[in-house]
Amino acid sequence: MHEYKVVVLGSGGIGKSALMVQFVQGIFVEKYDPTIEDPYRKQVEIDCQQCTLKILDTAGTEQFTVMRDLYMKNALGFAVSYSITILLVRDTEDVPMIFVGNKCDLEDKRVVGKEQGQNLARRWCNCAILGSSAKSKINVNEISDDFILTFLS
Ligand code: GTP
Ligand code: MG
Repeated sequence: MHEYKVVVLGSGGIGKSALMVQFVQGIFVEKYDPTIEDPYRKQVEIDCQQCTLKILDTAGTEQFTVMRDLYMKNALGFAVSYSITILLVRDTEDVPMIFVGNKCDLEDKRVVGKEQGQNLARRWCNCAILGSSAKSKINVNEISDDFILTFLS
């Protein structure tokens, strides 16, 4: 039987494991138990053929993410998952937001182009973007100033 390997990646607490458990076992896990690494298996039909999905549910919390780069390097594709409730912890969806492109002191190592960052910020959050450097103290204070100017004025 053909096997497909799937790796699930994403930030901690967004519901990756809950989604996988629901997908594989049909139950919702209410309790948050941060994942280190959990494998799942599920038989599915793809193009009229029975296949095995081998799912690796990975850690989103920082202390367990050492393997993430490796997974990303070896993956053939990505399903990017996020939680729609990230904004809803506030009682409005209209939450001021700014994209901060940090490490702008490392211009010669830039891989995310300025325009690319701007486009992402516009597309994802309809928000502004600001380059900063914690190391060179560039726009460190301005982030909050710009935040206030952009959104609260
Ligand atoms: P890490 O393993 O740390 O990377 O987190 P995770 O992304 O696997 O999050 P997990 O699936 O453990 O879910 C975190 C919390 O969110 C748990 O308490 C879940 O019950 C809850 N949760 C997950 N998905 C949903 C959902 O679709 N709706 C609601 N209301 N809660 C959810
Ligand atoms: Mg998890």
